[in-house]
Amino acid sequence: MLTEIVEDYDAMSIRAATLVAQQINEKPDAVIGFATGSTPVGVYHHLIRMHRDEGLDFSKLTCFNLDEYIGLTPQHTQSYHHFMWQNLFLHVNVDPRSVFIPMGMANDPEKFCDWYEQQIQASGGVDLQLLGIGGNGHLAFNEPGASLGSRTRVTALTQDTIDANARFFESSQEVPATAITMGIGTILESKCLVLMASGEKKAQAIKATLEGPVMVMMPASAIQLHANVHVIIDKGAASALEYDHHDGIAESIRTDAS
Ligand code: GLP
Repeated sequence: MLTEIVEDYDAMSIRAATLVAQQINEKPDAVIGFATGSTPVGVYHHLIRMHRDEGLDFSKLTCFNLDEYIGLTPQHTQSYHHFMWQNLFLHVNVDPRSVFIPMGMANDPEKFCDWYEQQIQASGGVDLQLLGIGGNGHLAFNEPGASLGSRTRVTALTQDTIDANARFFESSQEVPATAITMGIGTILESKCLVLMASGEKKAQAIKATLEGPVMVMMPASAIQLHANVHVIIDKGAASALEYDHHDGIAESIRTDAS
């Protein structure tokens, strides 16, 4: 697991955007998995800049998003559809027919989830998946307790997540209580994972993810099972780590001067 600790949010964003751009340049028809939340906003800002100033070409990509609230229309300002179009897709030359985001208004959400899994398989699988992390260690909307082999499905949100995401809504009562999410098993099938975190509010979840056991109570810890993971965190998010992570290893930090 390659862990990079960078100075701040902007450095994290530039680094992750650079990895995405490298993937796109190496394979113009790559399949990219995108994430929502406040963490990737800076990455999208830099990808838009790279498209505008450096000609980064999104036209042949296929894009899959991790999750969506159930009950919000794509037009709802807090839907992840709206988020992705406003923060990235409207500003780059992506082909709208190649953008897949779970449909929170699907008539039959269970059937939709099966269809979504089939679309990922049919695309050849995700080459690079961007990931944020919840303060409780959730990955996409895989909350503590989610099976590490789980697939795209309907899930309930924990009160912790509803409270954390209430900042984007008028009140916590307005936050949907359920969502569609790629499963942890689905995410682990991506060829490369890029997990990002910024700020001290993520420090305990990052410590548990990188240095704790793999367990359902810490869904993000499942990334330890993946062969190609890139973790990019800033100093705040790294502040609870007990080991020095470098070059794919973790060494105990020496406190003595000898
Ligand atoms: C949301 C999303 C996750 C995201 C997480 C962290 O609930 N479903 O995919 O990683 O919250 O959000 P933020 O980046 O705003 O801290």
